[in-house]
Amino acid sequence: MAIKVGVVGAGIFGVNHLNAFKQLSYLGVAELAAVSEINEERAKWVEAVYGCKVYRDYNEMLADANIDAVTVVTPDHLHKPITLAAAAAGKHILVEKPLDVTVEGCRAMVEAARKAGVLLQVDFHKRYDPEHMAMERRVSAGELGKILYGSVCMEDRIEVPSEWLARWAPSSSPGWFLGTHFYDLVRWVIKSDAKTIFARGHKGLLRDEYGIDTWDAINATVEFENGAVVSFDTSWILPKSFEAIVNQEIRLVGTKGVWEIDSQYRGSRSCIVEEGMRTWNNNFMRESIDKQGRTIYKGYGIESIEDFAYNVAAIKNGASIESLAGTYPSGEDGLQVTKIGVAVHQSAVSGNVVEI
Ligand SMILES: NC(=O)c1ccc[n+]([C@@H]2O[C@H](COP(=O)([O-])OP(=O)(O)OC[C@H]3O[C@@H](n4cnc5c(N)ncnc54)[C@H](O)[C@@H]3O)[C@@H](O)[C@H]2O)c1
Repeated sequence: MAIKVGVVGAGIFGVNHLNAFKQLSYLGVAELAAVSEINEERAKWVEAVYGCKVYRDYNEMLADANIDAVTVVTPDHLHKPITLAAAAAGKHILVEKPLDVTVEGCRAMVEAARKAGVLLQVDFHKRYDPEHMAMERRVSAGELGKILYGSVCMEDRIEVPSEWLARWAPSSSPGWFLGTHFYDLVRWVIKSDAKTIFARGHKGLLRDEYGIDTWDAINATVEFENGAVVSFDTSWILPKSFEAIVNQEIRLVGTKGVWEIDSQYRGSRSCIVEEGMRTWNNNFMRESIDKQGRTIYKGYGIESIEDFAYNVAAIKNGASIESLAGTYPSGEDGLQVTKIGVAVHQSAVSGNVVEI
C-alpha cells in the first residue's frame, strides 16, 4: 500500500517534494496526502494544481493518523520546531538541508527521532548525483590513495538571495544555503569528519545595494580528521547574466590520483534569443514523459526525495531503521554538517581557526 506523505512548506523547492510524491503515486509507492502552507496565495495554488488537502497549521496535518511521513521544506531556521512536532506525532521525517542552523537544535532533532523510533533523513542530494557517486566509489575503494587536499565551489546568481529568498536570506548565507551541500558531500566521499576550520567572509554587495544583511561570499578551509584539507568557496552574488542559476565544482587529490567534476556544466548548452547562453545540469532535474503521457521528473534533485519514500515504504514493510543505516543522509549526518556550518560562520566573524 502506498505510504501517505505530508509536505510542510510549498515554496520554490517544496514543488520538487510535491512532484516527487505525486509521480510516486503513479507507481503505487507514495501518495501526496496533504500539504501545510501558511501563505494563503501559495496554499490556494497547491490546492488547485495538486488537488490535495492544504492545512494552514502543520499541527493539524500532523494530527492526521493516516499520514506516515512528512517532509520539511520551510526556511532553514524553521525546520526544528516542525521536526520536533513531527517526531512527537510519530511521523517519519525528511528535512531539507541544513537540518538546523544550531548544533543544539540538530542534537534535539536527532534525539527526538530516536526516541520516537522514526526515520530522520536530510535532503543532501549531492550524494545522489551519479558523477559524485562514481567518485565516492573509487575514493572509498582506495584507488586515489590517501586524500590530501581538494577544493569545491558552489555559487548562485544574485537573484537567489535578492529575489527568491529575499524574506529569509538574512537568516541564511552562502555557507548555509550552498556550503552545506558540499560539506556533506566531502564528508561522505572521504569518510571523515571535520576537525578544524578557518574561514573568511565578504559582506557589502547584498547589504549595501540590496538592503539584505548577509554574507556575499564565504571561503572556508576545512581540515578533516583523516588529514585531508579541502577549501570551500561559496557565494550567491554571481551576475544575473551568468549562464546558469548555479555554478558548482569539486576536485579531490590523493597520493595515487586526482578526480575532478564540473557539477554544473555537463556538456549541454544552448543559446536562445530570449535566454542568451545557458548551460544545463540535466543530472539535477530533467522533465520527461511516462508511458501514460504524464509529466515526470528525473535526476538527483528528485531522486533523493523519492529515496525517502522508498525508505519509509521499506520500514512499513518490516525493515528496521537500523538496517537502512549508511544508505541515506541521516540526522547524524545533518548534525555533523551543521557543526561545520556553525564553525565556518564563527571563524568568518572572529578571524580565528575554530576547532570542532
Ligand atoms: N536541496 C536543495 O537543493 C535546496 C534548494 C533550495 C532550497 N532548499 C531548502 O529548502 C527549504 C525551503 O527553501 P525554498 O527555497 O523553498 O524557500 P521558500 O521561501 O521559497 O519556501 C518556503 C515555504 O515555506 C512556507 N512556510 C514557512 N513557514 C511555514 C510553516 N510554519 N508552515 C507551513 N509552511 C511554512 C512559506 O510560506 C514558503 O512558501 C530551505 O531549507 C532551503 O535551504 C534546498
